Amino acid sequence: MLRNVELTGPYMHDGAFTTLDQVVAFYVGGGGPSPNKSPLIKPLDLSAQEQRALVAFLRSLTDPTARVDPPKLP
Ligand code: HEM
Repeated sequence: MLRNVELTGPYMHDGAFTTLDQVVAFYVGGGGPSPNKSPLIKPLDLSAQEQRALVAFLRSLTDPTARVDPPKLP
């Protein structure tokens, strides 16, 4: 599901984040506050360099040739 994620922002169902750095920062912070969030979801102890590496990994999933542009509907 993350294939080509670099090309498909804004992110999340409501487009809350415009960059992958923001998405990673969201997870590093332990996700948003929600009464339904599992107590198993915790903040991640990632350094700034590790966060950059994670974003670089997400960018490595980019393959523009695999992108399907939906046809125009009549
Ligand atoms: C550091 C770890 C993680 C990374 C890098 C990551 C990455 C991402 C990215 C880039 C998106 C946006 C996809 C898009 O909008 O096209 C996303 C969405 C999502 N992720 Fe993660 N994820 C992580 C951890 C998790 C975990 C632990 C869970 C579940 C327990 C999870 C569940 C989801 C769900 C449900 C969405 C869709 C949210 C929405 O549409 O509002 N992710 N993730």
